[in-house]
Amino acid sequence: MNTDFIKIQNEIENNFSFHIDYLRKYLSSEKIKHCLSTATYALYIVRTQKISVLEDKVILSGILHDLCREYPKEELIKKAKEYNIEITKYEEKYPVLLHGPLSAHTVYHKLNIKDKDIYEAIYWHTTGKANLGLVGQILYLSDFSEPLREYPQAEQSRIILSREGFIEALFFTAKERYRLSLKKRDPAPYSLEFIEWLRGEKEILANAK
Ligand SMILES: [Fe+2]
Ligand SMILES: [Fe+2]
Repeated sequence: MNTDFIKIQNEIENNFSFHIDYLRKYLSSEKIKHCLSTATYALYIVRTQKISVLEDKVILSGILHDLCREYPKEELIKKAKEYNIEITKYEEKYPVLLHGPLSAHTVYHKLNIKDKDIYEAIYWHTTGKANLGLVGQILYLSDFSEPLREYPQAEQSRIILSREGFIEALFFTAKERYRLSLKKRDPAPYSLEFIEWLRGEKEILANAK
């Protein structure tokens, strides 16, 4: 990655050391690297695409989005029940998907970050959903495309971002994430709705030009 990226990463490490340290209670060093890289790439997107959004919201959602990612399945279900988080039939079948809602809940209640954009972004970062807010859209894209990701689609997504802009990269990412998820599980209804909603958003943008 380029020098801008390294500068942004240093900036985040200096200003958000409390939150990065907090991850150590929950996650392996490998996963912490991914969280930091996600936050860095998210801020890189905001600055290079000149997106008007509060940077702290983007950084915090990036750092904290996978807080509960390494809980075992049983723990995910147990904690979700304990916190009255809704468990749909779909999540019952794939408990790993509960790590988004559970991380959002933990950030809200235990870290006391009571921000609805950050909550929404973390809650929906795995599947996306129709009408997802801007902070959530940025997290969804950066989680998939951050430079430590090894699959070729991550690099493709970064190239699309630099050549065609944010909405095209997000649309590509939503489609690829959906396609890749089908190798692991049944189609997530929210993901399909997200793709269709983005298709509409793209049209609105194109017509406004
Ligand atoms: Fe995740
Ligand atoms: Fe992630």
